[in-house]
Amino acid sequence: MTTQTQTTDHRNVERAFAELERGNTSPDYRKELADHVIADLVRHSVAEEQFLYPTARDHIDGGGEMVDEELAEHAEAEKLMKQLEGIAATDPRFDQLLNQLIGDVRHHINEEESTLLPKLQSSCSPAALRDLGHKWLLAKQAAPTRPHPSAPDTPPANLVVDTGVGMIDKIRDDVASPDMCTTGSRTAPPMLAGKRPRREIVLVSVFVVVPLLALVAAIPLAWGWGVGWTELALAFALYCLSGLGVTVGFHRYFTHGAFRARRPLRIALAILGSMAVQGPHHRLGRRSP
Ligand SMILES: [Fe+2]
Ligand SMILES: [Fe+2]
Repeated sequence: MTTQTQTTDHRNVERAFAELERGNTSPDYRKELADHVIADLVRHSVAEEQFLYPTARDHIDGGGEMVDEELAEHAEAEKLMKQLEGIAATDPRFDQLLNQLIGDVRHHINEEESTLLPKLQSSCSPAALRDLGHKWLLAKQAAPTRPHPSAPDTPPANLVVDTGVGMIDKIRDDVASPDMCTTGSRTAPPMLAGKRPRREIVLVSVFVVVPLLALVAAIPLAWGWGVGWTELALAFALYCLSGLGVTVGFHRYFTHGAFRARRPLRIALAILGSMAVQGPHHRLGRRSP
């Protein structure tokens, strides 16, 4: 059930806040714990903004105003997290910003649990709540792990931007791990939790990067007898279109059911996604066109 999943997240954040407030640990540990909480809060907020808030806006009486207020609080918290992310735990501003963040997030959680979640629970059918819970978990897995105050926070723009930003954040998290690359050492998504050996990361990177470099190197060699500006423009345009088909079509629409689409758009997304030749999309999720 969605609301239980959400309150579990809230309790986990509360536990980390309490530990940070006790303040009897080393600065390095405090910084690591603060980064972990920031990652959890960002993933939680992104999932709310992608699915929970739009549902609340549609189903609750006066939901629009309520959601606008929650979004404004998310934006404020995200600015604080961005500032907090860039400073050491020994900096006097660290505790000041952290205390402000803790106060703001506690107020926000209290507001959600006393008003928004009970109203959502009573306005939606059990099946709709289960569906929302499913989307919520998938959204958290693909969500960014770092604050991005300038990123959009309402659909459909956030559905596209968050996925790309989330991928970049996960690469940054992997690179930042000193010895073992964990899938989000700042936070481990449930389906991908656990450590991956650096050897595996290096091998995958080689398999991804080397063919790309070879392709780039082949362009000047083949220039003029088969490859020209027309072919380059076509390759770029088709790359963008098939990427759109996979990320927005296969992933966001067919797998997550993140938005509604009419039949012509469904067909177009299915064709564009198939152009990426990554296999049948129904293996990715439970929806089919
Ligand atoms: Fe929230
Ligand atoms: Fe929340």
